[in-house]
Amino acid sequence: MRTPPDIKMPLPGPKAAAIIARDNQYVSPSYTRDYPFVMAKGEGAVVEDVDGNVFLDCAAGIAVNGTGHSHPDVVRAITEQAHKYLHMSGTDFYYEPQVKLAEEMAAIVPVGGGTGEVRSFFGNSGAEAVEAALKLARYASKRFNIIAFLGSFHGRTLGALAVTSSKYVQRRGFGPMMPGVFHAPYANCYRCPVGLEPDSCAAECLNFVEEQILVHLVSPDEVAAVIVEPIQGEGGYVVPAPQFHQRLRELTSKHGILLIADEVQSGMGRTGRMFACEHFGLDVDIVTVAKGIASGLPLGVTSARREIMTWPPGAHASTFGGNPVSAAAALATIGILKDGLIRNAETVGGHLLDRLLGLKDKHPIIGDVRGRGLMIGVELVRDRVTKERATTERDQLVQAMFKRGVLILGAGRNAVRFAPPLVLTTAEADTVVALFDECLSEIAG
Ligand SMILES: Cc1ncc(COP(=O)(O)O)c(C=O)c1O
Repeated sequence: MRTPPDIKMPLPGPKAAAIIARDNQYVSPSYTRDYPFVMAKGEGAVVEDVDGNVFLDCAAGIAVNGTGHSHPDVVRAITEQAHKYLHMSGTDFYYEPQVKLAEEMAAIVPVGGGTGEVRSFFGNSGAEAVEAALKLARYASKRFNIIAFLGSFHGRTLGALAVTSSKYVQRRGFGPMMPGVFHAPYANCYRCPVGLEPDSCAAECLNFVEEQILVHLVSPDEVAAVIVEPIQGEGGYVVPAPQFHQRLRELTSKHGILLIADEVQSGMGRTGRMFACEHFGLDVDIVTVAKGIASGLPLGVTSARREIMTWPPGAHASTFGGNPVSAAAALATIGILKDGLIRNAETVGGHLLDRLLGLKDKHPIIGDVRGRGLMIGVELVRDRVTKERATTERDQLVQAMFKRGVLILGAGRNAVRFAPPLVLTTAEADTVVALFDECLSEIAG
């Protein structure tokens, strides 16, 4: 593929415009397309649209294509499996790719303290992984309440939606929500909900759980689980202070409450570790994984301590979940991740973070730069003291980057996220930063 970016015409080009016009007629308008990118092909971190314009991809299909677009080993694994059989339903029959993947998950997930005493349930998406986690937590604990965090995103099916509190548009018109869900402030250290500093706090934001929710609203012995994103994704790529997770683990253990880590966005090498929990020394009871696990094929996994996942046949299942082709893609993906890709995410991510931090002096609109590995958020503000959110400027920035040939996405109300394929090179990261610098100047002017 040609070296990106290479934009040959005003966007969208004629072929892209024609496809988008057809999409407008026949495809659900509930999707959130920020700009008119129509994919033709991709390789590594480079994508080409149907008019032959070439872009650098810092979105990776919303943090999915960790191994890059159409990694040859993944394509080979998919093709080989497809030639043998496409489907046999792991709910009613056995096949080895699903078993192998469950074994792999037991070895890598931050569950069970490294004992490998882990079982996995397979679905097709992040939302399904969360549904399974919520149902399992209720079933196993014989309790029904769930505590989640403000700003979190866990999916759009009705159970997952009830714990989601990212933007009201995701909930508006769909109520009433599943009962028994309580939301607490997340450890957004740039905008500390209790006005403290991350270096010296004791995660006082969790006092809201301990001294409000668990005192005034619900008895701890009726709380099945707390669900938390180790690093908040859609909410703005928010990295909590480590003491937040440590205190949350202590609090949940004290009350026999299960702790669910939603690693759908942060997992599978994205943060420079296989799972973001590892940055915080966090071991949980249940973990949800999707997005990056199968390099683009649909797969959601819910892994739990073995003694928790003891629900009986028929309690939960999915016809397509753990599909053999997706499982083969996942096994290949995990191999590539272990084989140096996680290290690349850490190295190139560290470089990208430093370079973005380096833009802070020049661009007062940059309020905060944060992240781990290649999960990096830049929050834009109109004033560094008041931290007034630069919302329209953020949207302009996403558009400006697109016009220059870089795909990025927003996160939260006023942040942009860098979630490229983990194969991104240092040179590609430098190109992205140079264009970002240009775009920041453009929106400021
Ligand atoms: C943390 C998290 N959980 C769950 C989901 C839902 O995943 P899906 O869109 O595959 O249902 C997402 C999607 O963005 C996510 O970021």
